[in-house]
Amino acid sequence: MELYRQAWEESYGQKDNLIFYPKEEVLKFISRNVRKLVGFNKFNDILDFTTTVRGLDFGCGIGRQAILMEEFGMEAHGLDISANAIAMAQEMALYYEFPQLKERFQVFDGKKIPFPDKYFDVSVCEAVLDSMTFDLACRNIQELSRVTGKLAYVSLISGDGHTAAGQDFNKEEIVTTRHEKGTVQCYYNSEKIDALLASTEFVIKGKYLQKEISLIPAFERGRYSLVLVKKN
Ligand SMILES: C[S@@+](CC[C@H](N)C(=O)[O-])C[C@H]1O[C@@H](n2cnc3c(N)ncnc32)[C@H](O)[C@@H]1O
Repeated sequence: MELYRQAWEESYGQKDNLIFYPKEEVLKFISRNVRKLVGFNKFNDILDFTTTVRGLDFGCGIGRQAILMEEFGMEAHGLDISANAIAMAQEMALYYEFPQLKERFQVFDGKKIPFPDKYFDVSVCEAVLDSMTFDLACRNIQELSRVTGKLAYVSLISGDGHTAAGQDFNKEEIVTTRHEKGTVQCYYNSEKIDALLASTEFVIKGKYLQKEISLIPAFERGRYSLVLVKKN
């Protein structure tokens, strides 16, 4: 399956995809499902932190959610197909003084996630499974389901009202704007989300749709975020 790796390398190479701060939805996911910050380095635990809690940031880019996981006392790991992104993520690990995290950022070969079954308690996948073909997303979510023991967060772009005429769109297209030129953008609706999850062991615990309505210029866009629980 085509990975569009070169297009991602170019996007990161020209510094078009550098996002340094964690996504608010991921912070909410961790605060509601993993542990909540209640003071300076004080947490109310939801998962059991008496042993190491491991988190995977899949398609980590420059690692912003992995840094967040480390700040919450988790052992974070990050995988991405872009070597440019991983090099920057490794710099971020050092900048934020998590030297142990540096080696846990790895370039992904695009096939099998290089960890055993249920190695991670939690997986986070922000704007990744919509940045590839649907066939590849199905293969990757099966891998995520395999390596995740408890919970996952997945965010996917919504195609509701996406066309110029405001009609729904649930197919995929090649990005033509500079930011992620030549990569795939795959749009989702509820049925497609169900199809994505069909061959996994994930059950939907929370499903949210955030909409942004721009008045000038006029457009509307949306993004689903899913909280997934592993069966058993
Ligand atoms: C829109 S960016 C999001 C990056 C990051 N999750 C964030 O929130 O900042 C999509 C990311 O998915 C990565 N990606 C694309 N295809 C991938 C694949 N098959 N396996 C792993 N990562 C992939 C890209 O290199 C890119 O870093």
